[in-house]
Amino acid sequence: MSKERWNAVDRYVTELLVKPDPDLKAALRDSVKAGLPPINVSPPQGKLLHMLARMQGARKILEVGTLGGYSTIWMGSALAPGGKLLSLEVDRAHAEVARKNIARAGLSKAVEVRLGNALETMPKLVSEGVGPFDLIFIDADKPSNPKYFAWAVKLSRKGTVIIVDNVVRDGAVVDARSRDESVQGVRKLNEVMAAEKKVIATTIQTVGIKGYDGFAMALVVAD
Ligand code: SAH
Ligand code: DHB
Ligand code: MG
Repeated sequence: MSKERWNAVDRYVTELLVKPDPDLKAALRDSVKAGLPPINVSPPQGKLLHMLARMQGARKILEVGTLGGYSTIWMGSALAPGGKLLSLEVDRAHAEVARKNIARAGLSKAVEVRLGNALETMPKLVSEGVGPFDLIFIDADKPSNPKYFAWAVKLSRKGTVIIVDNVVRDGAVVDARSRDESVQGVRKLNEVMAAEKKVIATTIQTVGIKGYDGFAMALVVAD
């Protein structure tokens, strides 16, 4: 099956069902204009995050890796009234683009983009007693995935859903001897997830405008 066909199906689904609003489209347009890498979630994936947030009745959402705020807006617009989304971003320029996109979407009150290395911010959130979050989306640098996941569990409660993006990587995840640090990060993440007694988890492979990849989903089943 060709990549052209995967792209065509993503476009078809996006136009018919997903229907990103003008603020989401503008967020992508301005992210490209600002020279950000086009590695945001696809529109159908963004809608899935939005629907998961609504299924959770989410009032507290944590995102690791903001980029231009595209996934942030999908999830932020799904918050229950009075809800908050905190998104962690290490790159100042990315955070600035994101804040503008978030403001245009009318989400500045509900969404905070916190600048800094998430490996430092997440432990602070734990010690400050922030959380527990209802939904956590991990989508930053892939070598740190095992650590992000461990901190995410500490910021969770029974019922929290944790999603980790980009865990299949063209199928390279099965290559135990891969020298790609991102692949090794994902493999270690899977081991940490498998060993964590507080969660049940699965991974779904995906194709589409982002190629062949996938996401992991963990449900926290114990406090
Ligand atoms: N979630 C976004 C895409 C995120 S791309 C979307 O789908 O729209 C990954 C982002 O993670 C980049 O902006 C990158 O700067 C950020 N990042 C990388 N390492 C990080 C770290 N250690 N802490 C916080 N953010 C990080
Ligand atoms: C990359 C990062 C992502 O979060 C993604 O969805 C796709 C690609 C990357 O770093 O190449
Ligand atoms: Mg991603």
